[in-house]
Amino acid sequence: MGARPLLNRRLAGMGTTIFAEMSALATATGSINLGQGFPDTDGPEEVREAAVRALRDGRGNQYPPGPGIPELRAAVAEHQQRFYGLSYDPDREVLVTAGATEAIAAALLALLEPGDEVIAFEPFYDSYAACIAMAGAVRVPLTLRQPAFRPDLDELRSLITPRTRLLLINTPHNPTGTVLTAEELAAIAELAVEHDLLVITDEVYEHLVFTGAHHPLAALPGMRERTVAISSAGKTFSFTGWKVGWVTGSPELVAAVRTAKQYLTYVSAGPFQYAVAEALRLPDAYYDDFRAELRRKRDLLATGLADAGFRVFEPQGTYFITTDITPLGEKDGIEFCRELPARCGVVAIPNAVFYDNTDIGRSQVRFAFCKRESVLREAVERLRGR
Ligand SMILES: Cc1ncc(COP(=O)(O)O)c(C=O)c1O
Repeated sequence: MGARPLLNRRLAGMGTTIFAEMSALATATGSINLGQGFPDTDGPEEVREAAVRALRDGRGNQYPPGPGIPELRAAVAEHQQRFYGLSYDPDREVLVTAGATEAIAAALLALLEPGDEVIAFEPFYDSYAACIAMAGAVRVPLTLRQPAFRPDLDELRSLITPRTRLLLINTPHNPTGTVLTAEELAAIAELAVEHDLLVITDEVYEHLVFTGAHHPLAALPGMRERTVAISSAGKTFSFTGWKVGWVTGSPELVAAVRTAKQYLTYVSAGPFQYAVAEALRLPDAYYDDFRAELRRKRDLLATGLADAGFRVFEPQGTYFITTDITPLGEKDGIEFCRELPARCGVVAIPNAVFYDNTDIGRSQVRFAFCKRESVLREAVERLRGR
């Protein structure tokens, strides 16, 4: 095939995601997988049954409408009103996607021109870098530094150039668990308005906040018309395999994202969309219990990791804990994570892969706690004996 590489220049070096590599290692070694962020128990039985019913009743087995079934779009709009007092028109301001992943891809592909700069918190969720690259745009990291992992807002201001088009904000933040405060969000909103920037907010962990509260950026003055907000049923209802996500935003933004989305998947997950419409309407008790359960698991794993000698950075949200392995006499998280399954049968993710400035995250390792408590206990035992 000649000397030219098959993989194009935009994706060069992106290879296999770290999650695929580590999950394969988990399977090969029979390890406990605290790497990839998926729960090891399914979400509510009634939601699963709603999917079965839809499938049996022949609802969603053929292409659903491009923007998503009306029932789900209405349920998303109700959810934004119920939890945040935000009002969206289900017909023009809500779009159903194949998970948050497609929403992120479609939004970036729709809104960016080649050469545009996108500022995003580093460590980045891995699809951000790939999608920004596929759009031909340039990622500009705003580094969250341990131990606090707060964004430096003066640094954010200094990163804005005439080429900056978009801020990609993830709160609650994977992998650090940082939840932006009302003050931080207000400062970000002010900068976005001042510099006329578009904003994408990745809010997939909106219902997993243990300290403080989740505030959507779109609720702030001047933000509704410039913000594409993204969320995911996978995270909120523990059905990550269904890949149902959604976008809310102004009619113009949603139309732009829909234009890209229709040529990515067009539609997906027909019967599951009916089930997620029901899930979103679950009573407050569901959301409260889910959060309380994950908080217990966070505490269990955080205590266990600290007992095992890790430096633990307590997350305010998400289902991940970032640690530092320096107190264990280790330096390199990538090496550590590659060896850990053979050493003690546990899989984790090195945060270095989420940084452009890999040195900053070199000694950080991330553990997922969205697993059964017995599994977390066993993992902690194994890590103690490492
Ligand atoms: C920050 C963040 N955004 C998006 C996603 C992807 O969500 P989905 O599974 O709905 O595509 C994840 C999944 O881990 C995530 O952590």
